[in-house]
Amino acid sequence: MRCSGFTLVFLGTWLSLTVANSIWAGEPVALGEGDLLSGIPGSGPLTPAVIEKWLADPANHVELSPVLPLGLAAGAPEIKGIRENPLTRAKIELGRQLYFDKRLSSDNSISCASCHAPNEGYGRHTQFGEGVRGQKGGRNSPVSYNRILSDLQFWDGRAASLEEQAKGPIANPIEMSNTHDACLATVKNIRGYTLQFDKVFGPNSITIDNVAKAIATFERSIVTGPSPYDFAEALKPFKNLSEDDLEGLKEDEPKAYARYEKLLAASKLNPMSPSATRGRELFFSAKVGCSICHVGANLADEKYHNLGIGMAAAKPDLGRYEITKDEKDKGAFKTPTIRNVATSAPYMHDGSLKSLAEVVEHYAKGGTPNPWLSDKIKKIELTAQDKQDLVAFMEACTGPFPKVETARLPE
Ligand code: HEC
Ligand code: HEC
Repeated sequence: MRCSGFTLVFLGTWLSLTVANSIWAGEPVALGEGDLLSGIPGSGPLTPAVIEKWLADPANHVELSPVLPLGLAAGAPEIKGIRENPLTRAKIELGRQLYFDKRLSSDNSISCASCHAPNEGYGRHTQFGEGVRGQKGGRNSPVSYNRILSDLQFWDGRAASLEEQAKGPIANPIEMSNTHDACLATVKNIRGYTLQFDKVFGPNSITIDNVAKAIATFERSIVTGPSPYDFAEALKPFKNLSEDDLEGLKEDEPKAYARYEKLLAASKLNPMSPSATRGRELFFSAKVGCSICHVGANLADEKYHNLGIGMAAAKPDLGRYEITKDEKDKGAFKTPTIRNVATSAPYMHDGSLKSLAEVVEHYAKGGTPNPWLSDKIKKIELTAQDKQDLVAFMEACTGPFPKVETARLPE
């Protein structure tokens, strides 16, 4: 994977940079920061006693109202699934444990994190997902963050929700290779889990639907923090103000001025390079048009398009078509997010492009010709500098991942 030169600096908390009034009922909680994903407080083993103590605290069962970080926050009205499956600290923590627990697979070797690993951008740096006994499928592991803004899951959108998606891998023979029954029997045998399911979902509630609900809740809480791009965008409204205007702002609207100062400081610590700034203009321009599809707070339109990826094969993966049987969906796949995309090479549904530079080349040549190529994909005249700038912009869309406990699981 290509690690670029950018560094990200945490600037205390950025909750104060977000519009803090969440539109959801419940206790506001900032996703992407703090200890929400850090596991049950403490260090030693997660014994039943430690778990019982955590479960006894009513604060861990309060319904939470998610507040998204700067940047992603613009997507708050698009939040999916939390009415049907409310967020609580205890449910997030249960989901975290299940997500990292290899005991959910047939031979205790694979967890969700094996293919969606926090230190590999919540994907994998392999071309294809690798499951039990090293088995490989034909698709690249997509990222499992910022899913709170997404309903249909998989490259072809065949799962209607994160909940439905989470059930699949457990019983998929080439992924976790288990049966739902065997998986549930394992979970029932672990006292720490029965205690948590009892409290979170009620008595006798260890079902595959509830396992999936907990995992989906954890996934919804994994969001990317503000990137250099977000700080730069948020500063834009202040850019045209004169010294006098700023003085006036300081006197008349101290809160707005404080926000400006904080953004300025954050942006200095996490700057957009001149190259990234030019790349931003290209990305959103009519000429280059990346934002026709990579649009909205998560820079993904949640729709399906054929870019010609893999279409030169004798028997190409037809993607969305396999689900809809609609001719126009042949070879179409779901638009992935550009947020933190620099952390999750290789790229595309078949993992065939190794770097962001290769991705840009694919677009510059107008995709791979095939009868179903999207009419939005055309050859683009780009100089070598333009191409570098586009890559620099995508790298500048990288924000910090939340702190996450990956190891502590019930004994
Ligand atoms: C063996 C590797 C592997 C394992 C294990 C695995 N996944 Fe995946 N995951 C994939 C691949 C590959 C895809 C894409 C498959 C497709 O689109 O047909 C995927 C797709 C997804 C998606 C859809 C993302 C999107 O943008 O549509 C989510 C969410 C996800 N997995 C979460 C999970 C969870 C939760 C678990 C554990 C219960 C899990 N995965 C286990 C490889 C894996
Ligand atoms: C017509 C819609 C559309 C346009 C325009 C578009 N993309 Fe995409 N993008 C997609 C789709 C769909 C995929 C996944 C395709 C696949 O896997 O077959 C994708 C994949 C990507 C990926 C790989 C992400 C990953 O996680 O694998 C990157 C990076 C990317 N696009 C950047 C760009 C850039 C840069 C531009 C402009 C030069 C652009 N896109 C224009 C729809 C589009």
